Amino acid sequence: MVLVVGATGLVGNEVCHRLRRLGEQVRALVRTTSSRDKIETLRSSGAELCVGDPKDPRSIAAACCGVDAVISTAPSTLARQPGDSIESVDGEGQLILVRAARDANVNRFVFVSFRRTSRSRMPSKA
Ligand SMILES: NC(=O)c1ccc[n+]([C@@H]2O[C@H](COP(=O)([O-])OP(=O)(O)OC[C@H]3O[C@@H](n4cnc5c(N)ncnc54)[C@H](OP(=O)(O)O)[C@@H]3O)[C@@H](O)[C@H]2O)c1
Repeated sequence: MVLVVGATGLVGNEVCHRLRRLGEQVRALVRTTSSRDKIETLRSSGAELCVGDPKDPRSIAAACCGVDAVISTAPSTLARQPGDSIESVDGEGQLILVRAARDANVNRFVFVSFRRTSRSRMPSKA
């Protein structure tokens, strides 16, 4: 079972559908405010739906139960709901997810982000 966090997002949704086409069991993390259409296409693809939020440790512990791998692709940058921020979702929320995955003995954790380009590289310290 692969848990996809951000299953209704651009990247996560594609990941879910590709995994299902490969015959993998998928648990898709969604929230009550997520797009109904995306939830329905996930459901009809055979993915198991699970309501949760990286800001809510209990929901994440439940989502990680019985999972072999977690794919985390849930940035707060565009998909922002009240209470969502870089700090609460991308920061602490990801740590909650990592800890829950560790506690549930998940074998693999894939964190999707973006590659730093040479333009955005931090200046080296003198
Ligand atoms: N899109 C690209 O072309 C691209 C290219 C390179 C790298 N990336 C990287 O890939 C990652 C995913 O990007 P994306 O474009 O797929 O993002 P996106 O379309 O904005 O999707 C974000 C996903 O995260 C979920 N999410 C956000 N906050 C949440 C919360 N508090 N609780 C539960 N779910 C939450 C959203 O759920 P809701 O639907 O409920 O809002 C949605 O499923 C990012 O790290 C991005 O930098 C993307």
